[in-house]
Order: sequence, then C-alpha cells, then structure tokens
Amino acid sequence: MAATTTVPVADPEPVYAFQAPVRLYHWVNALCILTLAATGYLIAHPLPTVVGEASDHFIMGRIRLIHFTAGYLLAVSLAGRIYWALVGNAVARQIFYLPVWRPGWWRELFLELAFYLFLRRDAPAEAGHAPLAQLAMLLFNTLGSLFMIFTGFALYSEGLGHGSWADRAFGWVIPWMGDAERVSNWHLLGMWILLGFVILHIYMAVRADIVGRTTSTSAILGGWRSPKGARPGGTRPRR
Ligand code: HEM
Repeated sequence: MAATTTVPVADPEPVYAFQAPVRLYHWVNALCILTLAATGYLIAHPLPTVVGEASDHFIMGRIRLIHFTAGYLLAVSLAGRIYWALVGNAVARQIFYLPVWRPGWWRELFLELAFYLFLRRDAPAEAGHAPLAQLAMLLFNTLGSLFMIFTGFALYSEGLGHGSWADRAFGWVIPWMGDAERVSNWHLLGMWILLGFVILHIYMAVRADIVGRTTSTSAILGGWRSPKGARPGGTRPRR
C-alpha cells in the first residue's frame, strides 16, 4: 500500500501572543502610515490650484493638518509601544531587538527564507514573530517609523519656528542631514520604502497563514496564535 502523505499530530496549543496594546498599536500604526502616505504624497505632488482665494478653500492646508495630526498620533503610539515593550510579554519586545547571539534564531531565519522562496512547505513553528518578520519589523517598522518621526518633526519645526519645542527637539536633524530640502527628499524616500514594506508584510502574513497555517492574521485581531502550523484534521505533511 502506498505510504500516506500525512501524519497525525496533536492539536497545537494556541498561545496568547499579541497582547491588546500590541494589537491596538498595530492597527493605529497601520492607519497612521496609510494616512501619512496619502497626505504626504499630496504634499509632494500638490493638487491643481482652484479658482478664488486660497483661504476660502484651504485644501492643501487641511491635507497638511491631517498629515501633522497623523504624525503626532504615529509618534505617540510608538512611544506607547516602546513602553509596552518594557512591561509586556516577550513577544511585545521582539520588534525592538534581534537575538543574533542565538544559533537557533539564525537557523529559523534560514528555514523561513527557504519557506518564502518555495523551497520548503512548512513555516517554522513560532509563537510570536518569526525571525524574518522580526528582522523586517525592526528595520522597516521600528527604525523606519523613528526615521519618519525625526525627519517629519524636523520639517515641522521649520513651521513652528526657532526656539519652538520641535526646533529644540528635532531642529538639529536639518543641519545634520544637510538642509531642509534633503530632509524632505529623504522623508519622501522613506515613504516609498515604508509602503514597499507594507505590501511585503501583508503578502508574508497572509502566506504564512494560508500555506504555513500559523494563524498569523487572526492573531493580530484576537491575540491567540497556533504556533505549530496546524492543518485541518490535526495533520501535517511528512517532511
Ligand atoms: C509613515 C510616516 C510618514 C510618511 C509616509 C510621510 C510622508 C510625507 C511625504 C511624502 C511628504 C512630502 C515630502 C516632499 O514634499 O518631498 C511629507 C512632508 C511632511 N511631513 Fe511627513 N510623513 C510621515 C511622518 C511624518 C511625521 C511623524 C511628521 C511630524 C509631524 C511629518 C511631518 C511632515 C512635514 C512637516 C512635511 C512638510 C510639509 C510641507 O512642506 O508642507 N511627517 N511627509
């Protein structure tokens, strides 16, 4: 008789991976990035002038106001998320550091790369963020958001003027990077890099869920994650 292609496994125990503040940050952050990208794009490519007094319409003014409000929200939510990394569970800390001293972390990173390169069928078992996600989130989300906050508030300080709180906290970024135009160009480039990350992030999360059965998408809504790559009927493919 031909060998069966699946072996029975016990149902994996779901793990409460993403605590409520982590999930809240995720969705506030996603909303902020989309709002900032849409309004930022319009700031970089302003709408055509409309007939009449600019102050009667104030279209670009409103777009800038939405951009700055979302910018504040992004900064405050990141500050809250940093606080939660200190007091929350181990998964809450994962997007702020990489355990590069652990050989197992590197092994899983390469296994995961093989999974996304279609060289392997199952995703490595992870309760929280898998190493590749951890690396991408640290580089693009954590450091990327900090970069956008520093360059954004530096540009903002120009509007508030010399001696303002933004000038004192972030004004140094402008001479450090050259001039305001350079800061603006880097800020714009940062947007495209962040948007590239968002697309990749959604693809990888959905793929890990469907192919790897890691319940990654429902976990960022409900918090619970099945880490072992469970398949319907409690089976998984034989390696
Ligand atoms: C994900 C985060 C962000 C994205 C994607 C983003 C995107 C952009 C883009 C594309 C521009 C136009 C740049 C150009 O004209 O070359 C811009 C301008 C600007 N952004 Fe952001 N931004 C972000 C965060 C922030 C934050 C946190 C602040 C802080 C308040 C901020 C403040 C500004 C300011 C002051 C300008 C210049 C506005 C003007 O010249 O009228 N941005 N942003």
